[in-house]
Amino acid sequence: MARLVIVSNRVASPKERAAKAGGLAVALREALSQRGGLWFGWSGETEINPPDTPKVFRSGRVTYALLNLDPEDQRAHYAGYANGTLWPLCHYRLGLLTFRRADWEGYRRVNEHFARALLPLLKPDDNIWVHDYHFIPLAAELRKLGFAGRIGYFHHIPWPTPEVYLSLPSHAALVDDLSHYDLVGLQTENDVRALLTYISSEVHGWIAPGGTVGLKDRRFRVAAYPIGIDAEAFVSDARKSVGKDEERRLNESLAGRRLAVGVDRLDYSKGLPGKFAAFGELLRSYPEHRSKVTMMQVAPLSRSEVAEYQALRRELEELGGAINGEFAEFDWVPLRYLNRPFQRATLAAIYRRALVGVVTPLRDGMNLVAKEYVAAQDPEDPGVLVLSRFAGAADELKGSLLVNPYDIEGMAAAMDRALTMPLEERRQRWRTNMDNVETNTIHHWCQRFIDELTNVTDQFGPPG
Ligand code: G6P
Repeated sequence: MARLVIVSNRVASPKERAAKAGGLAVALREALSQRGGLWFGWSGETEINPPDTPKVFRSGRVTYALLNLDPEDQRAHYAGYANGTLWPLCHYRLGLLTFRRADWEGYRRVNEHFARALLPLLKPDDNIWVHDYHFIPLAAELRKLGFAGRIGYFHHIPWPTPEVYLSLPSHAALVDDLSHYDLVGLQTENDVRALLTYISSEVHGWIAPGGTVGLKDRRFRVAAYPIGIDAEAFVSDARKSVGKDEERRLNESLAGRRLAVGVDRLDYSKGLPGKFAAFGELLRSYPEHRSKVTMMQVAPLSRSEVAEYQALRRELEELGGAINGEFAEFDWVPLRYLNRPFQRATLAAIYRRALVGVVTPLRDGMNLVAKEYVAAQDPEDPGVLVLSRFAGAADELKGSLLVNPYDIEGMAAAMDRALTMPLEERRQRWRTNMDNVETNTIHHWCQRFIDELTNVTDQFGPPG
């Protein structure tokens, strides 16, 4: 079996326990342990003029290689181009997009630095799997240095339609970068369609059936790999939570009330102000729910160095305060708003107790919280998922109540419908969703991407 090399901006430390690390980090670590492999990424540290030599250490069958970045390049790469340009672009928020040439140059410099540091660690037969928008140019940089082996890329976030994508001043250069991969994985068929339409209509590429793309002298494949979760682990955590101290405390605090839950990083793509407004609208227009339902929104802080995230935090504090001010009773606070992360077992207990899961991003690549909420339900008495039609998960979780996150009254109506849905309908809808969550797990996703990366180069022969 070929060795696996994973590249990502953040690397889950081997000491981080499964309970704390995200499902993706755990699955990648497992894939590396099975095959033996290398996980290469940013060390989380900066230094002026860092050398091209990463810190290397082993844990079991996995080698970790962590690279320091120059502070100015790190800012231009992470807060600048990756999160100030690509993130809003891919989430259709052109009003929030900033493009500065210095950031674009810093982004490329970080990718060159990564390629120089990675090259000496590679073997010709490795399967190299690059994750996310921080590293789109990495394959091109490795090719410049003469590396001809297999490289795949997975884009965890949405790929925007051509009209939106064309707003990026560096649009053609970035897609040219993508063409140096052998396999480009996106979350959904919509994302694939968007990228292929751009390639054929804007940069004179050709598309063959099965997603093989020709651009200039290069051949690569583009396909959808919808990411899943470790369903078994979630089911088991949720079952184990029954009767435990945390479940008891949660139940006591709710005093028999219904619970609606949301768990999102504090990010403007997640549609949190709209979700708060919809909950306020529910209490205003369906007064029968007052004092009967509590909404818990867990929103760990994220990317606080980017101005838009600071502004969003203030907006939510104001909105949340206003809802509680308007509706709270001396013995009931409608909205519980928490800016801290929780371990998987605690989240599983909260999801299981919640009659409604509210996942209403304005855009999302997939949204794994939606799948985790489904996996954590009690099959006998499952809750209902209210899900944005603009999350990748909407393509898969057909048993959800789909909503338009720009329609506040529509979301309030969907929450009311979920809170009053008969048990039989809840069971049917949950079964439809759970079939998908159980079939398409994170393990299948990993295996399928790696298998197809291995096969794709057999088809094309080694890249030129
Ligand atoms: C999204 C991205 C990931 C990123 C994560 C957390 O899920 O797809 O690449 O790691 O957000 O964001 P952060 O900027 O804290 O790494």
